[in-house]
Amino acid sequence: MVESVEQHYGNDGIVDRIVGALTQSGFDMENLDPDVLAGADEFHIGGREGTVHVASAINLADGDALLDVGCGIGGAARYLAHTTGASVTGVDLTPEFIEAAIKLSDLVGMGGQVDFKVGSATDLPFMDNMFDAVTMLHVGMNIEDKNQLMRELARVCRSQGTVVIYDVTATGTDDLPYPMPWSSTSEFSFPEPVGTYEEAAAAAGLEHLGSSDHYDLALKFFNEPPATPPPVSLGHLMGPRMLEMRDNAADAVNQKLISPVLMTFRVS
Ligand SMILES: C[S@@+](CC[C@H](N)C(=O)[O-])C[C@H]1O[C@@H](n2cnc3c(N)ncnc32)[C@H](O)[C@@H]1O
Repeated sequence: MVESVEQHYGNDGIVDRIVGALTQSGFDMENLDPDVLAGADEFHIGGREGTVHVASAINLADGDALLDVGCGIGGAARYLAHTTGASVTGVDLTPEFIEAAIKLSDLVGMGGQVDFKVGSATDLPFMDNMFDAVTMLHVGMNIEDKNQLMRELARVCRSQGTVVIYDVTATGTDDLPYPMPWSSTSEFSFPEPVGTYEEAAAAAGLEHLGSSDHYDLALKFFNEPPATPPPVSLGHLMGPRMLEMRDNAADAVNQKLISPVLMTFRVS
């Protein structure tokens, strides 16, 4: 049987694994710094460094309302709320991830600044113009209909608001090795060249402000692991199958088949 997207990502015991690892490393669970979770809660190429690029492109002000689409267990949402004072809502298709996002936010004392909801990026459970800005990190590779995706991101963001996408784009034509971190098979895997996103965005009324390719960050992320491993990792998020997925993603990057690109748009 082919897994759905939610089945690929969803798994039990995420928070228990993370809390167990942190407890074993001696962290005080009553006073946990949200940054300690970064190895496990930033499920995109470059980890925290990728999120910092998104943060500098989004230009949020204190009190702004931000939507993070495909928020996973909420790492980028917490970082953006923590560093900008924005009130951040995360939405994700995978119920286990949303449950973990809520529990982890409470654990680090951020439950009042971030809010999470199960929902689909192609049918967002929000009214028109509700947010000052929208982010989406490493989600479009799971979504075939980029036109519908872009229409939804544009719809929920107010006029002149910013939409920042940091996604895995296709930069080669050879088949990808599976399982990849975002899909066990090619069935739910739709990386596209950056031009496909830009065309879909233009059709949705989004003005393109710029795109930057972060291939160097991808090479560093996969080929130069930190000398001291972080206390928690994507293995705690996804379980032991993460090792093979990570190796396949590393091969795809090293063969120049994929690259993470940051795209910035303004709603007209
Ligand atoms: C690679 S993870 C990235 C998670 C998070 N953005 C991050 O960077 O840590 C991809 C996420 O996209 C979510 N996702 C995939 N397709 C989606 C869709 N159609 N609507 C909402 N979320 C989706 C998955 O459930 C998963 O949490």
